[in-house]
Amino acid sequence: MALIEARALTKVYRLGRVDVAALRGVDIDVARGEYVAIMGPSGSGKSTLMHILGCLDTPSGGAYRLDGEEIGGLRGRALARVRNRKVGFVFQTFNLMPRMTVEENVALPLQYRGGLRRRARLKRARALLERFGLGERIGHRPDELSGGERQRVAVARALIGEPAILLVDEPTGNLDSEAGAQVLRAFREVHAAGNTIVLVTHDPDVGAEAARTIRLADGRVAA
Ligand SMILES: Nc1ncnc2c1ncn2[C@@H]1O[C@H](COP(=O)(O)OP(=O)(O)OP(=O)(O)O)[C@@H](O)[C@H]1O
Ligand SMILES: [Mg+2]
Repeated sequence: MALIEARALTKVYRLGRVDVAALRGVDIDVARGEYVAIMGPSGSGKSTLMHILGCLDTPSGGAYRLDGEEIGGLRGRALARVRNRKVGFVFQTFNLMPRMTVEENVALPLQYRGGLRRRARLKRARALLERFGLGERIGHRPDELSGGERQRVAVARALIGEPAILLVDEPTGNLDSEAGAQVLRAFREVHAAGNTIVLVTHDPDVGAEAARTIRLADGRVAA
């Protein structure tokens, strides 16, 4: 069974009186355990597609099944629930909470989800941070870390809830090549451990990490 099954997805943004068609009928299947890159020029709809696949936004039309669940009609809280249980995100800008420590940042999704006590949440966060070579950094604040370290914290945070899928948008865009290479190694390891990854990038070297590339052009999957 496909983990992601999207059919004829469309997305229209309304800007005043003008409609911008960001997606014009996109079909995508991603199998469990795949590592897929989505590539295409600026404005081709990559981030729009990611937001829909990650249940951050809803399509204007089409059908979307994630992990066997019909998503297309969900809104508001129902959509947020699916997102919280099934999706981990990594963004170009890290998006860590500046006043929280590294371990608190990583544990945060578990707090939103509920069910585990603080001690248990932080214990899981520390185990993940050690896995990504950040065991010495658990008590630091994000601004005390390098960009590459921050992004690895973001990867740990994305994984702590054991999501069905990891969605990644330009993960190395703000990093130098060495830090970027470390982050890509982390994804490689995460994929080897059985996780499904969909990664959006402009960068052909980053795209080459994935086993398969889907190209978008002007809101459509290019041939
Ligand atoms: N919130 C929004 N409101 C209106 N138009 C939007 C919005 N977000 C995106 N768009 C438009 O939708 C189209 C696709 O944008 P999107 O951000 O998905 O492209 P992208 O492929 O991620 O580009 P980039 O590589 O620059 O990040 C663009 O024409 C963009 O201007
Ligand atoms: Mg984008």
